[in-house]
Amino acid sequence: MGLLDGRVAIVTGAGSGIGRASAEALARDGAAVMATDIDQDGLTQTAAAIEASGGKVLTLRQDVTDEAAWDAVFDTTAEKLGPPTILVNNAGIAVGGAIVDFSLSDWKRQMEVNVDSVFLGTRAAMRRMKDTGGSIINLSSVAGLRGSAGLSAYCTSKGAVRLFTKSAAVECAQQGWNIRVNSVHPGIIDTPIWQKSITRVTETMPAAQAAMLAGPTGANELNVAALATGAAPMARPGRPEEIADMIVFLASDKASYATGQEFIIDGGMTAR
Ligand SMILES: NC(=O)c1ccc[n+]([C@@H]2O[C@H](COP(=O)([O-])OP(=O)(O)OC[C@H]3O[C@@H](n4cnc5c(N)ncnc54)[C@H](O)[C@@H]3O)[C@@H](O)[C@H]2O)c1
Repeated sequence: MGLLDGRVAIVTGAGSGIGRASAEALARDGAAVMATDIDQDGLTQTAAAIEASGGKVLTLRQDVTDEAAWDAVFDTTAEKLGPPTILVNNAGIAVGGAIVDFSLSDWKRQMEVNVDSVFLGTRAAMRRMKDTGGSIINLSSVAGLRGSAGLSAYCTSKGAVRLFTKSAAVECAQQGWNIRVNSVHPGIIDTPIWQKSITRVTETMPAAQAAMLAGPTGANELNVAALATGAAPMARPGRPEEIADMIVFLASDKASYATGQEFIIDGGMTAR
């Protein structure tokens, strides 16, 4: 018997990295999963992995910044899988760069994808889970707990997710809705996000440090293992599955008294 038998979960950004691992882990514990993303190929791979291990999954193309799409995602999920009571607001991007060179459009894009989406998803979930209860899990980061050179917009977005989560949790509890809302704060996890959009962060570092973090193909590739070795006492990057396990816990009744809290999984990075 799984921890989530009979439950229905929506996972955004499920075509890659932590979202994919979470969709797989939720399904492994018995949840029927609606996996959404803008990346259709990624979703196909996620669905194939879940189906191969006997899990139940459907996929939907969703841009999390599109307000109207949220109603469609909840309606389709309820119609095809049953009423969702778990939402993982995972989709995100990281836009790096020095503040003095940062454009307003990059800033707004960072907030739109990482913050507006979490508001839209949480609002949709709260409207629909009032009677059933549920668990909303928002992906923040250690970057939402402390500042980082070259990552000001990303840190700001993840700090916003942290406090929005707490506010939503208090609002749900005060209304008497059994909806728990928590944030998860990964450290350095080995996923494609580092190569996709953070690379420019090295541009804000002293040359020697940037060179140390370059991957085998040079400055355009970030060596995530080297980055984690320097930053985390456990001296390695985390695996997406290590975040997914926390997400399953928070989705389950094992976390029935946990709400408005931040769950840090970072190999000890913020312990010193
Ligand atoms: N990897 C890390 O080290 C790390 C650390 C802390 C927090 N996080 C957070 O975890 C979450 C997942 O990151 P990841 O590392 O798995 O990254 P990833 O790049 O592997 O996956 C992110 C997914 O989000 C999707 N996405 C991006 N914009 C979208 C949009 N507008 N609509 C729908 N989907 C969209 C992408 O297509 C991708 O599949 C993000 O919120 C990220 O900020 C990651």
